[in-house]
Amino acid sequence: MNPYLQGSMAPVAEEVTAFDLPVTGTVPAELEGRWLRNGPNPRGVADPATHHWFLGDGMVHGVRLRGGKAEWYRNRWVRGARIAADLGEDPPSGRSNGDRDFGPNTAVGGFAGKTWAMVEAGTTPMTLTYELDTIGYDGFDGTLPGGFTAHPRYDPATGELHAVCYSYPDRLDRVQHVVVGNGGRVVKTTDVPVDGMPMIHDMSLTARYALVYDLPVCLDIEEAMGGGLFPFAWNPDHRARVGLLPRDGTADDVIWCEAPQCYVFHPANAYDADDGTVVVDLCRYDRMFDRDRNGPVGDSAPTFARWVVDPATATVSETQIADGHHEFPTHDPRVGTRRHRYAYTADGPGLGPTQQVDVETGDIVIHDHGEGRFGAEPLLVPKEESTDEGVGWVLVCVNDRAGGPAELVVLDGEDLAAEPVARIHLPQRVPDGFHGNWVPDASVPPG
Ligand SMILES: [Fe+2]
Repeated sequence: MNPYLQGSMAPVAEEVTAFDLPVTGTVPAELEGRWLRNGPNPRGVADPATHHWFLGDGMVHGVRLRGGKAEWYRNRWVRGARIAADLGEDPPSGRSNGDRDFGPNTAVGGFAGKTWAMVEAGTTPMTLTYELDTIGYDGFDGTLPGGFTAHPRYDPATGELHAVCYSYPDRLDRVQHVVVGNGGRVVKTTDVPVDGMPMIHDMSLTARYALVYDLPVCLDIEEAMGGGLFPFAWNPDHRARVGLLPRDGTADDVIWCEAPQCYVFHPANAYDADDGTVVVDLCRYDRMFDRDRNGPVGDSAPTFARWVVDPATATVSETQIADGHHEFPTHDPRVGTRRHRYAYTADGPGLGPTQQVDVETGDIVIHDHGEGRFGAEPLLVPKEESTDEGVGWVLVCVNDRAGGPAELVVLDGEDLAAEPVARIHLPQRVPDGFHGNWVPDASVPPG
């Protein structure tokens, strides 16, 4: 059987709405907003043997916090045209790039007063209501010329979102750097030529550069011609490199630097060092989509490394930051594009404890969620009382391998190993998924 449809990865069948969730501990009163998470939740799979985890239509899970209470939980399919028809509903408003009928399944967040579900590879982002119902495809008020990404990077200094976007099969020879201004409209695009159609899942952003990860998971022509649903695979002949695109530059200004032969879904934060190099910490795999063609787990395990990218020599030097396995890295949003001290990771790839990594010392503080329980992507939410990095709460969805209901767990960022501040008991399992955000009401208000 396909492991990506089993156990904690199996989809849930129902959309649930629950109010006044039970809590063990105390929900911090200043947390006023929504915790959101997106992930694949296929509604019927035609052929489980060939199903790829990344291709299931999205389902968003959300918990609304206010006044020290967990007011509601909701889970909703992101309604692309296919899911809407399956549910007997009207199609979503708007049109996706390439007339795709897919419900974005990889990330969800708030920007420019709207809630967005996002995915890479060409589908237009979709807006949702505060209560997570689908509105429709929204290409930033029609200003987005192609597809988008699940991993835009926010610059707290400018209020911009930056993205590196690829689009299959309509743009085989280039990727596009997209800048969305703080008003929610695209203000700059730069097409960057690349060979071999690499799968570029994420990007990094510093004050000076946008980083383009041109790594050896590429279009597999034979798979694509044979009608394969997921036509990307490890290509050992594709040399890994990372491009430094000056934020105010053009494609001609990209400085390509030779990188270790590996794959990276997720960098943590990046910044410009005083000596002109770029420092980025990232979760890297020796191989990806080589033997395992149904998902990312079977080829190698992710380790946590630091790349120092030197535009003067066009090289990358790599060192291991910490022991163990690390995925879904995040950082304190206050230090985005600036030098950071901490990263927060899940003990991947099967997920496990939640980890705070001191990237200067390699020390790890672990929060073990208990026997049979494992945490997903951790999110650091800053406390209002301080501007210091790491002073905040860590929100993490914790699941039970035995299939019991999930919890949204709130940890103290200054004492991660301590007992949770709060365990919010959700009414059902949250299938293993991808990415989310804490969206304060101050950013995207109700209504
Ligand atoms: Fe991702």
